[in-house]
Amino acid sequence: MKKLVKVLLAVLLSLTFFGCQQQPKTKEVKIGVAIYQFNDNFMTLYRNDIQKYFDDLNAKDSSVHYTVEIVDGANDVNTQTEQVRTFISKGVDALIVNLVQTTSDALAKEIVNSGIPCVFINREIADFNYGDKTCYVGADARDSGTYQGQIIYNVPNHGDLNGDGTVSYIMIMGDPENTDAQYRTEFSIKYLTDNGVTVENLFQQTGNWDQAQGQELVGNALATHGDKIEVVFCNNDGMALGAYEAIKAAGRTVGTDIYLVGVDALPECCEMVKAGTMTGTVLNDDKGQATACCDTVLQLLAGQAPAKKVNYVPYVMVTKDNADDYLK
Ligand code: BGC
Repeated sequence: MKKLVKVLLAVLLSLTFFGCQQQPKTKEVKIGVAIYQFNDNFMTLYRNDIQKYFDDLNAKDSSVHYTVEIVDGANDVNTQTEQVRTFISKGVDALIVNLVQTTSDALAKEIVNSGIPCVFINREIADFNYGDKTCYVGADARDSGTYQGQIIYNVPNHGDLNGDGTVSYIMIMGDPENTDAQYRTEFSIKYLTDNGVTVENLFQQTGNWDQAQGQELVGNALATHGDKIEVVFCNNDGMALGAYEAIKAAGRTVGTDIYLVGVDALPECCEMVKAGTMTGTVLNDDKGQATACCDTVLQLLAGQAPAKKVNYVPYVMVTKDNADDYLK
């Protein structure tokens, strides 16, 4: 009797084991994703969007399985170079690369020479010669700066709160090597001056896209220039979140005695725009960019040339009027 139970159990176990075995996938595709730094509010949304895109594909179609490995470059060129080389030597089928450094094209060239299809994202190398299998997906940072300028132009008296004929501002910059930081700094102010507004730059320093650094810099600027500061421009929302804390600590009130703008339209910043604690932001469309990037990866994997070597996804100006649209 005991023996019979044992045999039955063994049969049952093996049936369960083989029953649980998944049907072999027809195709396994490995994608290596190198992010410049995980500790970045915007790139966190972006990398989660990439992961979700391939998770959704895996759920929809079992004939291909995408394995996505996402690594953190920790904002260090050497770390990222090693990570990308490891992906290449492991023989990934495609790469998505958010470069740490865009002032040198050494790593980008190495990728092109490897022959592995690659979509570069978010950090553009000026005038880079993409091969047939690589391209760039990002956004035209000039537009984001222009929208920031426009947001301030549209507030009462174009931001000149004390009525002295000059808009006195401070500028908190992202990584100064990055074209996003350069263009946002330039084009936000250009929009005002092109439209006849007189401006005065009281303080301009780099907060490296980082919330804590943004808070510290704005705190310092407020301590030095106090009520003279009418507008706080931040190259991104992460730093604007920090700026807001410093503004609050200095007893100032956004929308009443100071204005604050950022870029990205992080969900928490859209809430603040809605509540009036931020004057405005600019949608940096992480989902749109991640979709364009992953669609392009699929095209490259299918052996097609990318439709565009440089693909810009549009920015959108976000104020109280439309902040709700970006909270959905
Ligand atoms: C975003 C920033 C981010 C940076 C990283 C920019 O486009 O606006 O929030 O820190 O990209 O490269």
